[in-house]
This record gives sequence, structure tokens and C-alpha cells, in this order.
Amino acid sequence: MANHVHSQPRYSEQLMLRPFRRRDVGTFHDAVSASLSELQPWLPWIEGYDRGFAQRFIRDSVTSWAEARAYDFTVRPLTELDRHIGNVSVWPTSNQNGTGEVGYWIRSDETGRGYGSEAAAVAIAIGFEELGFHKVVLRIAVGNAASERIAEKLGFTYEGILRDEVKVRDEWLDHTSWSLLDTEWAEARASLGAEDTYL
Ligand SMILES: CC(C)(COP(=O)(O)OP(=O)(O)OC[C@H]1O[C@@H](n2cnc3c(N)ncnc32)[C@H](O)[C@@H]1OP(=O)(O)O)[C@@H](O)C(=O)NCCC(=O)NCCS
Repeated sequence: MANHVHSQPRYSEQLMLRPFRRRDVGTFHDAVSASLSELQPWLPWIEGYDRGFAQRFIRDSVTSWAEARAYDFTVRPLTELDRHIGNVSVWPTSNQNGTGEVGYWIRSDETGRGYGSEAAAVAIAIGFEELGFHKVVLRIAVGNAASERIAEKLGFTYEGILRDEVKVRDEWLDHTSWSLLDTEWAEARASLGAEDTYL
């Protein structure tokens, strides 16, 4: 399994994705601040979120990339490249087994335009095509219908429930686990009409 991801921007139909830079803090903070109530039910790190978190996140993101631990991308519309509208990340969970995971969020006033699915598809392509994963997993809190829809649209198979998987605002949430295998990726990619994009 490869362990390096190139740091050049990726372009999809509507989006540009690239690694974070220190100067992204302002637009990152703006996106999270505008989305707190929609992110809060699902993402544990929102608890106590402030601008300092944004600074630490971006600093850690640069380090994680360099150490091949995780690859975080700022997601931007092609029409407004200065504007951060969400995150997508891909990271290995077992090098021995070739497994990895993808996570994402989109700022609330930009949802419903296909950005979440498109950004996730880029990260999944990186998982299979650059990192050589055998299997990509999505873990989605029970009740997060929009995210489950993304899993379905991208051709993932529902595997089951992970009990008390993540603690959000002092409550344990069950998660559903979804997966896509390397042998299924070509078909999933083709059904997205994405043969020539995403990398
Ligand atoms: C989940 C999230 C990333 C979706 O982003 P997005 O840009 O709206 O995603 P897309 O537009 O690509 O697709 C969303 C799909 O969910 C559907 N959807 C949205 N809300 C829904 C709901 N309440 N019930 C069922 N489906 C819903 C949309 O109709 C769309 O499906 P369609 O293309 O078949 O119409 C975004 O809402 C978000 O960031 N939520 C908060 C954080 C989060 O949940 N992150 C994921 C953690 S696993």
C-alpha cells in the first residue's frame, strides 16, 4: 500500500480540493461558525469550538499530511476559490489490511448542491488510486439521513451498527458502518460519470 498523497489541487465538476495552508484559518472559521447548529448533532469536535480550534486543526492537518497519518482537504467551489465551504479527509486505519476511512462536512448554506457527494468521491478516489486501499469505510451517526444518502449514492454497502461509537455533547451515538471495496470502485466511479475527473 502506498503511503503518500500528492499535494497538488484536485478538480472535480464543481469543486477544487487542496491541502490546508495556515492562511485558511479565517475562511475555515467563517464556514464552521455559519454551520454550528447543523454540525453539532454529528461531529464531536464542535463542542467548545472556537477560532483557536481552527488554528490548531490547520496546524495539525499540515503535520498529519507530512507524517502520512491523514489527508485533510479544504473544499472550494470552482466559482469562488477563496471560499472554504467544507472539509473532506481520507486516512488509513490499517496499513496491514489496506483499510481507510473518509469523513466530510459542508457549510450549511452550501448543502443540497451535490458538493458533499462530489468531495467524498474525490477522497475515495484518492484512497483507492493513490493510497492503494482495499476497502474504504464511512461511519455515519444513526439518523444522519443526508450522509447516509451520500453513502448510497457513492455505491457503498451498509454493513451494520456500531454501538456507542462516538460521544457527542455527552451522549453516545450509534453509528452505521458502510464500505466500498477496491473491486467495486471502478463500477462506482463509472456510475458517477467521473472517469476523467477527480484526480
Ligand atoms: C451530510 C452533508 C455532508 C451533506 O452535504 P451536501 O452537500 O448537502 O450533500 P449532497 O448534496 O451531495 O447530497 C445530500 C443528499 O442527501 C439528501 N438529503 C439531505 N437531507 C436529507 C434528509 N433529511 N433526509 C434524507 N435525505 C436527505 C439530499 O437530497 C441529497 O440526496 P440526492 O442527491 O439524492 O437528492 C452535510 O449536510 C453536512 O455537512 N452535515 C453536517 C455534518 C455531517 O453530517 N457530516 C457527515 C458525517 S458522517
